[in-house]
Amino acid sequence: MRKICLLGASGSIGTQTLDVMRKNPTDFTLVAFSVGSKTRKIAHIINMYPDVKAICIKDKNKVNYYQSKYPNISVYSGDEGLLKLIDTDADMVVNALVGFVGLKPTLYALEKDKIVCLANKEALVVGGELVNDLLKKGHGKLYPIDSEHSAIKKCLMVDDHNISKIMLTASGGAFRKLNRDQLKDVKAEDALKHPTWKMGNKITIDCATMINKAFEVIEAHYLFGCPYSQIGIKLHDESMIHSYIVYKDGSMRLDISKPDMRNPIKLALYEFVTDFKTVKANSLEQFKDLHFHDFDSKRYPIVKLAKYVIEDKGTYGAVFNASNEVAVNAFLKDQIPFLAIEDIVNKLMKEHENIIHPTYEQIAEIDAKTRQNANELVKKWRKK
Ligand SMILES: NC(=O)c1ccc[n+]([C@@H]2O[C@H](COP(=O)([O-])OP(=O)(O)OC[C@H]3O[C@@H](n4cnc5c(N)ncnc54)[C@H](OP(=O)(O)O)[C@@H]3O)[C@@H](O)[C@H]2O)c1
Repeated sequence: MRKICLLGASGSIGTQTLDVMRKNPTDFTLVAFSVGSKTRKIAHIINMYPDVKAICIKDKNKVNYYQSKYPNISVYSGDEGLLKLIDTDADMVVNALVGFVGLKPTLYALEKDKIVCLANKEALVVGGELVNDLLKKGHGKLYPIDSEHSAIKKCLMVDDHNISKIMLTASGGAFRKLNRDQLKDVKAEDALKHPTWKMGNKITIDCATMINKAFEVIEAHYLFGCPYSQIGIKLHDESMIHSYIVYKDGSMRLDISKPDMRNPIKLALYEFVTDFKTVKANSLEQFKDLHFHDFDSKRYPIVKLAKYVIEDKGTYGAVFNASNEVAVNAFLKDQIPFLAIEDIVNKLMKEHENIIHPTYEQIAEIDAKTRQNANELVKKWRKK
């Protein structure tokens, strides 16, 4: 029986993780979880999992209320509270947090030799080097939840020799049928209509800008150790092929199934111990009614930033992520236009003086400074 600590239990991945656990009650139990502001979800989760010993909420002003409501459970708050949850007897930490807040708990869980199932891709974008340093030193284990990386890991487990390219598939997001001119006036409510997945707001906007794919290229680099030149992107309308590998002899290995995040979540929770069935096919066209398009870097120029983060490393990932988090938030509040997200990110990446081999503290400092600068740029946009 695995004892799980679930960070971000109230979100899209968190809720689906609870669903997978509920369907496999003899294999998993919940001992700790966090929610952000959706505290109304706490009672239901505690009712489902009587083994819960500790919870964390975002707002410290609500701690006393929940502590008196649940006297047998330790109630924590804020970023430090997330670490307290990891200090319980949980042996597996599912990180379903969104954004920079997910980095510290990932590092902390690995330091404590826990198994981390990682949905929070921002942790690798910002702190991939720190994460890999801990893994290399033998601390903890890390399994990806992102569907593309789960698919690639599955394929690599069958054959990781003579690889020519790792290909990440991309649906193209809500605006895939629009050209850049048509992006000028799009609104958040349109951007939130993802064609194939139902996800949290931030990642849905990241899909519309394609910054999500840039993040996934960086994520693939840190997870699989491949250079930028070996990672490609293929647009695929239906999100049925979750990603694929092209081998040097031209053959391909791919992972195909209906889009459902509970599949990669389940795989990570079971540490990728599963039976893989291989079906032989000679070309992607053999799969009827699936559509593929070449990735157009002129349509999605922002994806190129992944190259700098991968090749120059340092604090570029922190700037990319923090500027994007602020800009996406402002776009969701209708404070800036859609294309201003790219503008803000590009400007701050261009101005940044990289710090190589940063510590967590240096990364946190750059994160805070970038947020300040990005907020200034948001203010300028609001005056336009
Ligand atoms: N959703 C998907 O299908 C999917 C697929 C692949 C990868 N991912 C990745 O998985 C991660 C989670 O995505 P999601 O779609 O599940 O996001 P989401 O629905 O927005 O959920 C995010 C979770 O993090 C919590 N949270 C946010 N800010 C916090 C803070 N400052 N302190 C503490 N908790 C905080 C939220 O709490 P409240 O909601 O209670 O405020 C919620 O529980 C992201 O990194 C995303 O890129 C998601």
